[in-house]
Amino acid sequence: MITNKKVTLIVTGSVAVYKSLHLVRLLKKANNDVRVVMTEAATKFVQPLAFETLSKNRVLDDSFEPENPSEVKHIDIADSSDVVIVAPATADILAKIANGIADNMASTILLATTAPTFIVPAMNSHMYDNPATQRNLQTIREDGDHILEPDTGFLAEGYSGKGRMPEPEKIVDWVSSEIEPNDQLLLGKKIIVSAGGTREPIDPVRYITNHSSGKMGFAVAKAAADAGAEVTIVAANTSLPTPAGVKIVPVSTAVELADEITSRFPNADGLVMAAAVADFRPKNVADHKIKKQADQDTMTIELEKNPDIVKQIAANKRSDQFVVGFAAETNDLVENAQKKIASKKLDLIVANDVSGKGVGFNSDNNQVTFIFADGHQQKTPVESKQTIANELVKIIGEF
Ligand code: CTP
Repeated sequence: MITNKKVTLIVTGSVAVYKSLHLVRLLKKANNDVRVVMTEAATKFVQPLAFETLSKNRVLDDSFEPENPSEVKHIDIADSSDVVIVAPATADILAKIANGIADNMASTILLATTAPTFIVPAMNSHMYDNPATQRNLQTIREDGDHILEPDTGFLAEGYSGKGRMPEPEKIVDWVSSEIEPNDQLLLGKKIIVSAGGTREPIDPVRYITNHSSGKMGFAVAKAAADAGAEVTIVAANTSLPTPAGVKIVPVSTAVELADEITSRFPNADGLVMAAAVADFRPKNVADHKIKKQADQDTMTIELEKNPDIVKQIAANKRSDQFVVGFAAETNDLVENAQKKIASKKLDLIVANDVSGKGVGFNSDNNQVTFIFADGHQQKTPVESKQTIANELVKIIGEF
């Protein structure tokens, strides 16, 4: 159940606006703080006062004047929302979302928010079926927002068709099932999560490493533990707090990581390999600090290959075990990740564009594409690593 969240409800101009009043009541009843944003067209169907009375918050519309001019209201709302719901969503707002148009309060918030966004289209069935609307819906879906199919039934136009806004109870159930924690989903399962970045020593003071902070792996561990699993994190050089109930095994190098995972995996139900592993390590590790020579301009370190841990584990796994890998890419994300899932024989790969601003390494947010062994894909919006971890656990729960 969606509860204790900051919900921004964007209401656009459709006759279905009246149903959104009940949606506000349901969200409030479940202890959510609801902020309603209305387009001008929406205010023609229902007065903002009705939404204000039910939400107990001031409605934001295009006539809104900030009480505090130093506050950028649309950004403030976009940033502080846990969840954004657009219900009803007209063909017009869909076109704006699909094309990144920000020309009123509602569309600006939608462009600015990084919160998971749930869109409930409601319109005339011919408008819904129009190729332009279908194209926009496809784009929005690919961009990672969640879309609820309209119901089929009697429309305000006097004929039957697909375009009716589903009942508010159904909308609340749908949003809840997408965001709610995975209670007991992994009860009784033993899961190993690797996290962090390996360090490959060059000498006693230097090493080769990468930018991984371990945040994604720790979020997965927390999500799995919250879902009832017995979780062990094999953590390579992390300094994050250990999630409640999770066991930590610290390691440093790829070989240590490989040893710990290999010895533990036979007793586990699955592995989530979120650690960033150095593919190579210095062939000879000096036992003293390497000194530079006075006339030295270059230096060569010979590297040798580290084991591909996840590949080895997946090659030897039992049929009742699963192995999930990550793919950190800076280009050709899906293509490269598809090659990895095939060559490493994984059940799932979480493909991660680490070149984007505000996502990936060290960030609290991420945007990933889940790629399944059968080739189908599921792209998330930019959302917190914890939300993505919860979604991953939901998928694992179905293995
Ligand atoms: N991985 C591993 N052992 C390695 C290298 C990677 O187990 N020696 C795992 C990672 O933990 C991740 C997946 O393989 O789950 C993909 O890692 P990534 O670094 O994206 O790819 P690589 O296989 O190393 O390929 P490349 O560096 O060429 O992109």
